[in-house]
Amino acid sequence: MKEFDELVRLRHSVRNYNDELLDETVVTAVKDILKLSEKVPFGSKVRFELVDVSKSDYSHLRQLGTYGVIKNARWYIAGVLKYPVENHKNCMLDYGWGFEKSVLSLTDMNLGTCFLGGTLSRKTFGELVRIADDEVIPCVSPLGFSDEKPHLKEKMLRVFASSAKRKAVKDLVFQDNDTRLIKSELADVLELVRWAPSASNKQPWRFRIAGNRVEFYLKRNPLYKKILAMTGAGDLQLIDMGIAMYHFQKGYAQRGIEIKWDDKQILSPPSGVEFIKGCHI
Ligand SMILES: Cc1cc2nc3c(=O)[nH]c(=O)nc-3n(C[C@H](O)[C@H](O)[C@H](O)COP(=O)(O)O)c2cc1C
Repeated sequence: MKEFDELVRLRHSVRNYNDELLDETVVTAVKDILKLSEKVPFGSKVRFELVDVSKSDYSHLRQLGTYGVIKNARWYIAGVLKYPVENHKNCMLDYGWGFEKSVLSLTDMNLGTCFLGGTLSRKTFGELVRIADDEVIPCVSPLGFSDEKPHLKEKMLRVFASSAKRKAVKDLVFQDNDTRLIKSELADVLELVRWAPSASNKQPWRFRIAGNRVEFYLKRNPLYKKILAMTGAGDLQLIDMGIAMYHFQKGYAQRGIEIKWDDKQILSPPSGVEFIKGCHI
């Protein structure tokens, strides 16, 4: 098993897959990982279903509607969420947290993944995993072994989203003084958060730090509100926050520190952001 920090650096979105079928032992291991990822911090009801599209013909595969963004994937993970619920925020955070937990465990098996929250046909996936009236599919991910060469559309998408780039920590963190970041493991953990995937690589996470207190904030991009309203699917930027929280929490767990989230906004926020969660480190 690889170290968590290494997995974070290894993971990247894979959009081009080879035709290799996954054998029974791999499929069983994947299903175990998906099951384990359903245990999420705020108790939302999520299920991650493995969908085998290899038995269907290719026209059906295309109908899965990833708009040509994904090539050759024979397996998909459909992330199903019970919704609506009273606490929209917690359930989207849980969803991102659990999905990313499985993504990183699958990276450890050398399996490629790619969050899809925009370029997918929810209707088709909904039929495939038979979602109930009170369930939605905010995201899916293809699953399989990567074809070494990214296809043209993938290359364009990566350039468009500047996928290989991340904002500098200083552009994400607002703190009272710099000393703590330089000295502590906080700098290492924030480095792990920086490499988290986010919708269109917008990296909407912002952090306020004072002493041992860290607060997570969301800098929203108005475009995603529109997507949410149009599709009724998922609050992609809250899902981004859940993904980042998983990196943070697991990063600390690896260093022997247990993170407990709270809803108390204590620090004064940076401007134009939404409070998400806080914790002590
Ligand atoms: C919530 C979410 C939704 C995403 N939706 C899509 C999508 O619809 N189509 C796509 O090609 N990539 C999608 N991505 C992948 C991002 O573009 C990608 O994670 C980002 O550019 C960073 O690149 P990396 O994953 O290779 O590090 C999504 C990522 C996240 C976290």
